[in-house]
Amino acid sequence: MGCRLHHPCKRVKISAIVIMQRSFSALLFSVIVAASMSTSWALVTIPLTKLERTGPYLQGSPHADRARASLFKIASDPKTVPASNLAYVQYTTSVGVGSPPTYYNLVIDTGSSNTFVGTGKKYVRTPTSVPTGQNINIVYGTGFINGIEYKDTVTLAPGFVITGQSIGDALKFAKFDGVDGMIGIGPTDLTKGRLSPDTGLTPTLMDNALKQGLIKNDIFGISFAPAKTYNDTNGAITYGGIDHALHTGEITYAPITKTLPAANSWGINVTSLTYGTHTVIPQSTAGIVDTGTAMILLAKDFLARYLDAIPGSHLDIIDTGLVVIPSSSIAHMQPLNFTINGRVFSMDTAAQLIPLNQNTALGGKAGVQYGVISSLDGNSGEGLDFIIGQKFLEKFYVVFDADVNRIGLAYT
Ligand SMILES: *[C@@H]1O[C@H](CO)[C@@H](O)[C@H](O)[C@H]1NC(C)=O
Ligand SMILES: *[C@@H]1O[C@H](CO)[C@@H](O)[C@H](O)[C@H]1NC(C)=O
Repeated sequence: MGCRLHHPCKRVKISAIVIMQRSFSALLFSVIVAASMSTSWALVTIPLTKLERTGPYLQGSPHADRARASLFKIASDPKTVPASNLAYVQYTTSVGVGSPPTYYNLVIDTGSSNTFVGTGKKYVRTPTSVPTGQNINIVYGTGFINGIEYKDTVTLAPGFVITGQSIGDALKFAKFDGVDGMIGIGPTDLTKGRLSPDTGLTPTLMDNALKQGLIKNDIFGISFAPAKTYNDTNGAITYGGIDHALHTGEITYAPITKTLPAANSWGINVTSLTYGTHTVIPQSTAGIVDTGTAMILLAKDFLARYLDAIPGSHLDIIDTGLVVIPSSSIAHMQPLNFTINGRVFSMDTAAQLIPLNQNTALGGKAGVQYGVISSLDGNSGEGLDFIIGQKFLEKFYVVFDADVNRIGLAYT
């Protein structure tokens, strides 16, 4: 069942209320909880690369299509398409629906698995749009959608066209400002209970891409980068494989964790986390990797260790839910090192800080130094003790591999 607000499923709550509202991190939370295990996805690469193109591409104009087409490397291999950072808290990609396609900017969410349009640009029906006779109803940690389900043709990239894809037309919704909907590239099990009448699991975009032979591997790779502007096309998503141009060195894989509820989504164990010589996460702990979460969230007790190690730092619970770091402490900050399957993924001081020009967009005060590490609502030991969100993924390439049930990480 979906994690409805009235449903007694375990919900992950975080203190970063404002951040959650402005990002789709919340999606994640509801989703994680609801799912049962399983991961079956497919692979096609769509660039979320460091392109300077913005508006025209996003609007799906002919120029945009050409720009997008130029990104493809080999027609039948994994496809990379651009992704855009919007408002510093979410990544979107342009997706065509219908034939001829109308292009929508959809949030890329690995923490949920239904795809829908209509929250910005309205759903434009074409002869390929076939109502399934079902309603779609999803309450996310923040926001909700409520609408009608269709099967339609979905164009993820030129020549990369999925037919008969189940998609929602969101008629009522909240908290989807500035975006047209979402692509859910989480495990298929997360579609359970989202449609009524309930027909069981709904094949995701990745499921159909695999079944229809568009991709050979149930893998996708994601490249994010720190946003320089409010709407920055600086990322890429590769469907069906790995775009090796987007990372350096080896990819280190961690198996999907068996610990619930992290195992319901793209969950892994982190072996340890250190800040300088301070231990933040002392032992192997389960959490998730999520494109729909803006920050990096730690269980309260873990966050406390991080804050203790940075003199004068504290959590700004009221306004932003973000950590505030006094300027006197910045020069003394240490690397934050995640050890994942034997390899250290290190975030230097800059990577731990939010650029000051993003403060307003995040609901913060001018001139205050905020950090990217924030808080889950509970203490550790609940089977979901961290969420590795966009601020981590802006530093490292990530591979979501459902063929082998593992997540790969690499330096960029
Ligand atoms: C953290 O990682 C960096 C980069 O690999 C390394 O230079 C540093 O020694 C590590 N710090 C600790 C305390 O392990
Ligand atoms: C993963 O972390 C959980 C705690 O969240 C722990 O119980 C489990 O043993 C860990 N698994 C591995 C393989 O280390």
